[in-house]
Amino acid sequence: MDELQALDNTRLPKHIAIIMDGNGRWAKERGEDRVYGHHEGVLSVRDIVNACGEIGIQYLTLYAFSTENWNRPKEEVNALMELLVNTIRKEIDDLKKNNVKMHVIGDFESLPEVCQRELNEAKELTSMNTGVNLILALSYSSRWEIVRATQKIAQDAVSGVIRVEEIDDNLFRQYLTTSEFPDPELMIRTSGEHRISNYLLYQLAYAELYFTNVHWPEFRKPHLIEAIANYQQRERRFGKTSEQIQTNIPQHVS
Ligand code: IPE
Ligand code: IPE
Ligand code: MG
Repeated sequence: MDELQALDNTRLPKHIAIIMDGNGRWAKERGEDRVYGHHEGVLSVRDIVNACGEIGIQYLTLYAFSTENWNRPKEEVNALMELLVNTIRKEIDDLKKNNVKMHVIGDFESLPEVCQRELNEAKELTSMNTGVNLILALSYSSRWEIVRATQKIAQDAVSGVIRVEEIDDNLFRQYLTTSEFPDPELMIRTSGEHRISNYLLYQLAYAELYFTNVHWPEFRKPHLIEAIANYQQRERRFGKTSEQIQTNIPQHVS
C-alpha cells in the first residue's frame, strides 16, 4: 500500500481510460508470437483492475479491440476472440468477489455469438456489484459511435420524440454508448504511440493524456500510480486562465 501514499486522495480521477497497446511488439522482442503478448496482457488487465479498486478509481475503460482490429490477420482475430471468452470464464469468480461491475461498449452484435453470451453472463453476474466499473471497449470505434448516435437522434427527431432545438451536449451524450459514465479525466496509452486511434473522441475532449513507452504486458500498478501522480501535477484549466483557477476569480459574464 506504500506507493499509494504518492497520491492525493482528494484529487483522484473518477474515470481512467486506457489504450492497452504494445502486446505484439512486446512478444516479438522476446522472439514470441504476437498472440503470446495478448495472453500476457491479460495479467496486466487483472493487475490494473485490482489496483483501481485499491486506489479508489470508480470507472476504468479498457480499449480491448477496435473496429479497425477486425482487419488484422484472421488467426490473430480468432485468437483474440478466444482469449476474450477464456479470460472472462477464468476471471468471473474473482470479478464477482472483488466487487467489479462489468460493462461493454462497442458494436456488440458484430462479436461472435459465443463472446456475446459470455459477456452478457458476466454483465449479469456482476450487475449488483458496487466497486470498480470495468468498461470493455470491444469492436469499438468512436466514429461508429458518433455516427450511430446521430442516426438515433435524427430518428427521434423525425418521430417527434425530441425537438431539434433540444439537441445539446447533454442530450447528445445520452445517445453515446457511454451515457451511464462520466467522461474520463485521464487517458493512458502504453507502448509509445502518440495517437488516439478512434477511441472515445467525444468523451476525451478535456481528458489529460498520458503516454508511456512501457508495453502493455509490462504495465502494472506502479506504472498506473505514476500516471495518476503525473495527472495530479497538472492544472486543468478548461479554457480559463491559470489565475482564475488558482484564486477562484469568477468568470466574465457578458
Ligand atoms: C494491443 O497490442 C492489443 C490490441 C490491439 C488487441 P497490439 O496488438 O496493438 O500490439 P502492437 O502495437 O502491435 O505492438
Ligand atoms: C488500438 O491499438 C486498439 C486497442 C488497443 C484495442 P492499435 O494497435 O490497434 O492502434 P493503431 O492502429 O496502431 O493506431
Ligand atoms: Mg498496437
